[in-house]
Amino acid sequence: MKPIIKFENVSVGYSLGKSNEVWVLKDITGEIYPEEYIVFFGPSGCGKSTLLYTISFGSIKV
Ligand SMILES: Nc1ncnc2c1ncn2[C@@H]1O[C@H](COP(=O)(O)OP(=O)(O)OP(=O)(O)O)[C@@H](O)[C@H]1O
Ligand SMILES: [Mg+2]
Repeated sequence: MKPIIKFENVSVGYSLGKSNEVWVLKDITGEIYPEEYIVFFGPSGCGKSTLLYTISFGSIKV
């Protein structure tokens, strides 16, 4: 069966190249298959919304 969503090596960082550079996501890879029920969990600020937003829209506008 083919995945309906596939994301590979998703990385999101802010202030790249500056002293306050921070990576929220680094090389996140996954596949979601039809009728699967997926739960993202983790502490506040770990990047759940950033991952969903990036999968949906392809990038983060800052
Ligand atoms: N402009 C920015 N510069 C630097 N860091 C940022 C910026 N915008 C967001 N972040 C950081 O990205 C991280 C991930 O945020 P995100 O909203 O994805 O977390 P979350 O897991 O959805 O949290 P919550 O459970 O509270 O909803 C946070 O640590 C936040 O501080
Ligand atoms: Mg969130």
